[in-house]
Amino acid sequence: MPNLNEARKRKNKTQVIYDALQIPVEMIHYGKNKTYFVKTYGCQGNVIDGQNIEGICEYLGYKKAENYINADLVILNTCAIRETSENHVFGLLGEFKEIKRSHPNMVIGISGCMAQEENVVNKILTKYQHVDFILGTHNIQNLPSVLRDVIFDNNIVVNVSSYEGNVYEGLPSVNSFKAKAFVNVMYGCDKFCTYCIVPYTRGKVRSRKIDDILAEIKDLINQGIQEVTLVGQNVNNYGQDLSEEENFVNLLQKVADTKIKRIRFTTSNPWNFTKEIVDVIKKNENIMPYLHLPIQSGSEEILKKMNRYMKIQSYYDLIDYIKQEIPNVAISTDIIVGFPNETDADWKETLKLVNYVKYDNIYCFIYSKREGTPAAKMVDEITTDTKKQRLDDLNKLVKKYAKQNNEKYLNTIQEILVEGPAKKGSNIYMGYTKQWKVVNFKGNKDDINKLIKVKINKVSQFSLNGIKVDE
Ligand code: 5AD
Ligand code: SF4
Repeated sequence: MPNLNEARKRKNKTQVIYDALQIPVEMIHYGKNKTYFVKTYGCQGNVIDGQNIEGICEYLGYKKAENYINADLVILNTCAIRETSENHVFGLLGEFKEIKRSHPNMVIGISGCMAQEENVVNKILTKYQHVDFILGTHNIQNLPSVLRDVIFDNNIVVNVSSYEGNVYEGLPSVNSFKAKAFVNVMYGCDKFCTYCIVPYTRGKVRSRKIDDILAEIKDLINQGIQEVTLVGQNVNNYGQDLSEEENFVNLLQKVADTKIKRIRFTTSNPWNFTKEIVDVIKKNENIMPYLHLPIQSGSEEILKKMNRYMKIQSYYDLIDYIKQEIPNVAISTDIIVGFPNETDADWKETLKLVNYVKYDNIYCFIYSKREGTPAAKMVDEITTDTKKQRLDDLNKLVKKYAKQNNEKYLNTIQEILVEGPAKKGSNIYMGYTKQWKVVNFKGNKDDINKLIKVKINKVSQFSLNGIKVDE
């Protein structure tokens, strides 16, 4: 059983394990003529976990199903960051009760951050007994033996570890994007922001060795990948647990030196975002001018209660420096609305910040109480109506500045990496600019996975429209 209290501890040394995947004999080729379906929620870290889970399924011989209705193996790879996402999973689990009546051999599993929460696991074991296994975030490599125990011994299996975790290299992976890939550079988080469940569900900071990361990226380049996103909960803290040379600036420079066409990274935390990082972005054309810098609140009082040690003035200074050094930069942020006892004065500080930075995008969320975190014990007298009103007001500003920022691109020529049709079967295709703006244009399937030039002829708050140019 998971235990959030145990997961809080930081005492063991990280091990790097290169041969973690062990296949019980019964499971070798077991998936032949069977199908799997993995549904992933949440952040890019969880997307990578989902890709590894798919990779292991395919290694066992399973083929990907079109949807979950008829799949032999269904895994919900969950997110615990907000209650809404958890409720969605419970809703789906309710549906599976019915589906399993007509497909009694379907195997259903839960992985991801919800698997690390004891209240969730208790609820599943008592109310959702059609779930066959629960696989923790540190235990993906155990999937084959968990499946063995479910299928051959008819057990309900909970395979979850509540410890700070190791680094597992070389797990198989399925990347459904053909031109881009996410690459983990570090796992876990040691920041313990008071509202956040992640340091408990994902363990301590463990950085991958720089050579392992570079080897993976070189491999991806050989496969035709044009864009990598370096992923970690606080990517700019990369290497804090390694040698001095293994730091984020050196990592970025070495990845840029591979000459891959596009490099992105997420998520940065603003209080360890140094001028050296800005400089390395400025120096390398293949590091994209798009930064996601979550602030959460414009009020220093609230930031303190969130355990986010940043002077708000230094955030303003950082933004000024970034815009001065990288004039074509796009910036986005995360804001939590209605943290316990956020006053009107606190909220005005947030609006002031938003009006100053004029973000390209803001991911705003109403605060969600997470059992086991310090903020869950804080008294909260802010009404739901007030929180909803604040979210509405913020959303209006988000749209206004998104549109204003997008207008800068009207009549300019932009390079985009094309992903595919904007809507299935249409001749309108879409891709992303360097600044992570969606561009729709009239194209054809030969454009997919290519870097092409478009002239922007129309903009809205959400996206740009363009025409292909030969330049
Ligand atoms: N409630 C609401 N939003 C949250 N986030 C993290 N924890 C919570 C919570 N308890 C948001 C933060 C973070 C993003 C990934 O999710 O804004 O940056
Ligand atoms: Fe959560 Fe804060 Fe860590 Fe981000 S930095 S994962 S918000 S604890």
